[in-house]
Amino acid sequence: MNYPKSKSYEGLIKGKIMGPNPVKLTEELLTIVTIPKGSRVLDLGSGQGITSVFLAKEYGLNVTAADLWSDPAENTAFFASCGLTEKEIQAVKADAADLPFAEETFDAVVCTDSYNYFGRDPDYLEKHLLPFVKHGGLVLICVPGMKKDCHDYLPEALLAAWTPEQLDYIHDAEYWKNLISKTDGITDLSVFVMESNTEVWEDWLLEDNEYAKGDRKAFDAGGGKYLNFVGILLKRA
Ligand SMILES: C[S@@+](CC[C@H](N)C(=O)[O-])C[C@H]1O[C@@H](n2cnc3c(N)ncnc32)[C@H](O)[C@@H]1O
Repeated sequence: MNYPKSKSYEGLIKGKIMGPNPVKLTEELLTIVTIPKGSRVLDLGSGQGITSVFLAKEYGLNVTAADLWSDPAENTAFFASCGLTEKEIQAVKADAADLPFAEETFDAVVCTDSYNYFGRDPDYLEKHLLPFVKHGGLVLICVPGMKKDCHDYLPEALLAAWTPEQLDYIHDAEYWKNLISKTDGITDLSVFVMESNTEVWEDWLLEDNEYAKGDRKAFDAGGGKYLNFVGILLKRA
């Protein structure tokens, strides 16, 4: 697909992304739904903040970048280097399971390539995330997926890069639909296979770090044919 807004981020993503190109994945979600300019948005599991910058600059959103593993001071410095002020974007160290915000703070949540770390808990969405979203607010999620769950007979190509425990973070659209549709307090749920796949993986596999090098083993062995991306859109009722 075409990613007109992500094009100008090709240089900026280098060394910043922590998985398949999250800027392109986020752009795809935002071709399907619109978050009005000026909305207060939580970028959950924002990593080193590249999607947070993208949301603030390209969509005029007021972004809180919340992440567990990255350093908020480094992210704040990155945001400033991109010409963004703390009024426009804030970095917070936070565990998705224990978010430090007041109830109904956010107009929307964007969660790119992170939800699979904490959202497989069937209670997560209702108990730990929805309370911070305004009623009627949007939640946009995308996760690396499997075309068909095959955890009982994992292909060697996937095992070339990942352990069965790591592969348990990756599931098919059916799995996510079953899990999320049981949540009370949501409406307008849509779970779908995204168009982004090969291209966003390729951007990641070109990165020069140990994680990308490790992931390449699965793709070199032909494992890409088992994988896709799953998009999940919903609103708080
Ligand atoms: C694969 S990285 C993706 C980061 C970023 N969205 C990107 O695409 O570059 C997964 C992110 O999930 C975050 N994460 C994992 N568990 C988390 C938790 N319990 N609370 C908040 N963030 C979490 C990590 O800190 C990490 O930055």
